[in-house]
Amino acid sequence: MSREQRLLRALGAEAVWPPPVWLMRQAGRYLPEYRQVRARVADFIALATTPELAAEVTMQPVRRFGMDGAILFSDILMLPWALGYGLAFREGEGPVLPKLRDAAAIEALDLGRLEGAIAPILETVRCVRAALAAEAHDTALIGFAGAPFTVACYMVEGGGSRDFANIRRMAFAEPALLDGLLERLTEATIAYLAAQAAAGAEALMLFDSWAGVLSPALFRRLVIAPAARIVAALRRNVPNVPVIGFPRLAGLMLAPYAAETGVDAVGMDTAADPVLARAAVPPRVALQGNLDPLALLAGGAALEAETARILAAMRGHPFVFNLGHGILPETDPAQVARLVSQIRASV
Ligand code: CP3
Repeated sequence: MSREQRLLRALGAEAVWPPPVWLMRQAGRYLPEYRQVRARVADFIALATTPELAAEVTMQPVRRFGMDGAILFSDILMLPWALGYGLAFREGEGPVLPKLRDAAAIEALDLGRLEGAIAPILETVRCVRAALAAEAHDTALIGFAGAPFTVACYMVEGGGSRDFANIRRMAFAEPALLDGLLERLTEATIAYLAAQAAAGAEALMLFDSWAGVLSPALFRRLVIAPAARIVAALRRNVPNVPVIGFPRLAGLMLAPYAAETGVDAVGMDTAADPVLARAAVPPRVALQGNLDPLALLAGGAALEAETARILAAMRGHPFVFNLGHGILPETDPAQVARLVSQIRASV
């Protein structure tokens, strides 16, 4: 008899049913208890680097909904921050960073700073593990990082963007420059994720939110190749920690991503068809996703029907129920509770 958490069993290719569930961005502004903790600190970075508070907000959705996964409360942009790259989160504007344009800025990314800078984040991991051991034995802790391409998107663009045209132009016009940046970020990401696992993260997720803006050749070079390197290095350093890859909006490239990167699971975005995705990935690769956050926002019969459709498509395949993208701040927590009970009632 396995005593492993249901989430870890599903990531280990077991078709656990009803499936484990957690939601991307499950700790956040839609929860009044999150807003309360958030009001105690000046900004997001302060929250993410204060272990007691970051651990507290990580635990909030676990306590409220009994999620099968707890995701470390941090951000994908805390890695460039830890390498000494400027970062600010402005109210209503999202992240703001310097615009990376030359090799000197890549040289300045300081891997020597990493260990010290991530110390509070690793302390959060240890705090959450202790809390889970004390109060939620069946919930597994997920560590994460942004994939090198998506992190580079924010660094080159200086923040969010509709189409990330600057980094795509760089990929064609200055390939050596972009490869140098991804190389540096890949190395740092390996160290960062391995450290999270060593501190107690039981699964790791790689968020490649902007993978879908790339042509297939660039997708192979900038998304698949770095993910494959990261997974291979993690297998050597932390062999028993499963990795979930999320190449958002990958379309048909989800299949080569699942087959070639070595990940244990792939996240399906909202636009992915679960039936087609299931047929396209190797049977050993678990799937995660992919309820539209707007269906959760809308609630009612539409939410129930969408949820039922995803469950029906995934039964018999290793699967983790999730959203296709992050939960929206306007979401009613009562809808989340309803969603979780519908999944748990699936026999
Ligand atoms: O609950 C969780 O999922 C854990 C924490 C988490 C956050 N960001 C907290 C956060 C995770 C896993 C992320 C990932 C992340 N961050 C991604 C990948 C997933 C995706 O959404 O595509 C990306 C692209 C980012 C970058 C980022 N961080 C943006 C664009 C923004 C601003 C937009 C927004 O939602 O406000 C952030 C800020 C951020 N990260 C917030 C939270 C809770 C909101 C800031 C706040 O509450 O003060």
